[in-house]
Amino acid sequence: MIEALAKFLLAYLAGTVMGGQIVGKLRGGVDLRQHGSGNVGATNALRTQGKGFALAVLLIDVLKGVLAVLLIPRLPWPLAEAQPWPPDWQAYACGVGVALGHCYPAWYRFQGGKGVATLAGVFATLLPAALPWLLGGFIAVTILSGYVALASVSAAVLALFYIACIDARGLFSAAGAFTGAMVLLVVWKHRRNLINLARGQENRFEKARLLHR
Ligand code: G3P
Repeated sequence: MIEALAKFLLAYLAGTVMGGQIVGKLRGGVDLRQHGSGNVGATNALRTQGKGFALAVLLIDVLKGVLAVLLIPRLPWPLAEAQPWPPDWQAYACGVGVALGHCYPAWYRFQGGKGVATLAGVFATLLPAALPWLLGGFIAVTILSGYVALASVSAAVLALFYIACIDARGLFSAAGAFTGAMVLLVVWKHRRNLINLARGQENRFEKARLLHR
């Protein structure tokens, strides 16, 4: 339990390494929170700073998700524990940690991103068979609607569908509990986008959308 908690905290710290903040500093102090939607993620970087900036943000945020669940659970733990958590539970705990670190970084007054790129890295590593569903849904909704936020929430819902109906482990498993919690997190972080969508005020990538021209 202590091992899982320590690794969860380490993953949280990894999550607070924000791609948007790093690239912003390297680009002369750009603070994405002062531009566009105010989000520190790749979507807002693309919207306000261009492709190169956005790609760098995306790479950092995805990579930290991958590394947090790939490396941190494997770190040696010197203390003997009566009931150590199984390795897959530790990996899911690290997945939750890195996502929370990205969404609620203590160093930025808990004002972080929306977790989509980081969770893409986490899912690609822990549930790779789900990735074609998530990526396919994300790309299709982005192209059809032009709304990245809608695509993000759709991918989250597809993750839930995947674990409940396709993956053999089902909803009532470590993978299912992890997926359910992360879907709630993504939907919660997109609540403002969903309200804006309902009001017809959400930011849209005009070049991406194919519908409603
Ligand atoms: O991953 C974030 C995306 O879903 C929404 O970003 O900047 O449009 O709020 P944004």
